[in-house]
Amino acid sequence: MALAEFLADLDALVAEADAAFAAAADDAALEAARIEYLGAKAGRLKDVQKGLGKVDKADKPAAGKRFNEVKQSIEAAFAAAQERRANGAATHQREAFDFTLPGQPVRLGRLHPITQTIAEMKDIMGRLGFTAVEGPEIEDDWHNFEALNIPRSHPARDPLDNFYLATAQLAPGDSPGAKSKSSDAKAAAKPLLLRSQTSTVQIRVMESTPPPVRIISLGRVYRPDTADATHYPMFHQIEGLLVDRGVTMADLKSVLRLFCQSYFAGGDEVHVRFRPSFFPFTEPSVEVDMSWTNAAGEHGWLEMGGAGMVDPNVLRAVGYDPEEVTGFAFGLGVERICMRQHGITDIRALYENDVRFLEQF
Ligand code: PHE
Repeated sequence: MALAEFLADLDALVAEADAAFAAAADDAALEAARIEYLGAKAGRLKDVQKGLGKVDKADKPAAGKRFNEVKQSIEAAFAAAQERRANGAATHQREAFDFTLPGQPVRLGRLHPITQTIAEMKDIMGRLGFTAVEGPEIEDDWHNFEALNIPRSHPARDPLDNFYLATAQLAPGDSPGAKSKSSDAKAAAKPLLLRSQTSTVQIRVMESTPPPVRIISLGRVYRPDTADATHYPMFHQIEGLLVDRGVTMADLKSVLRLFCQSYFAGGDEVHVRFRPSFFPFTEPSVEVDMSWTNAAGEHGWLEMGGAGMVDPNVLRAVGYDPEEVTGFAFGLGVERICMRQHGITDIRALYENDVRFLEQF
């Protein structure tokens, strides 16, 4: 093979390879071009290299020198193309982020409407001198019923109206898990339940504090109601208790009225009315209604819950002297008050956790 022919082949190869690397539109195309020209087994450079053996002996050094230059040149062209691609991708990414655009609005979380209502109630009652306390949601028979003057035979204890737990409180001295040694221990085991009312907290506070007492308790209560627009198996109550010398129904009514007026910011337009009722733990007992007027000028009465003067039996059960002190208690439904305030008509909406609903508060 003549030297001139070999050198011409090399020149053609450099030109083609340069063009192929420059034209590669993406990483895959560039890699294909690399294999075509620089591939170790069947690459075009390898092909041309075979011609080197056929060159006349005297021309070999010159041919070999030129071959090496061409090889380096093609490799350099490939490296350059590779670098262009890498830079190009990075440039592209940087362009996607436009620093001149205004910032994205930050999505803030919100408090659940019930949480907001509870915070507001605590605030109002706090200003009236009531301290917020908490009690357990799993209760025993004594605090949910017995001490509240609810006798063994009372329908309020019906298993169909309460979430009894499939476990019982053990008598002191029984280690949990160990089998009861005696039938005494079994008899002493008391049923536990999810509290059906926050009145349990009255008992817990009075048992541990001498009068006077001025507390509210806000929390979840549980009753096996089927969920519909106005019922839910879990809801919240606000319980109030004031025990001192000379407390009367008039105090109860004024506290409730002040509470409603503050909560609904309705001033003198808000009224509270009592309807005679019955609760085992209060005597006399009343249902509490509150008047409301909305922006459209409509008005009506909202049933808020129950109240009354603490029954002397309850005061005795916690070691208070009913001749010395009297007290009032009330238990209001938090959901009802919250729903009335916001015009929510279905209690289930509060617990479906639909962000479109929750975002509105
Ligand atoms: N515990 C009663 C209920 O759940 C409400 C109530 C509380 C009534 C305190 C009187 C006094 O219905």
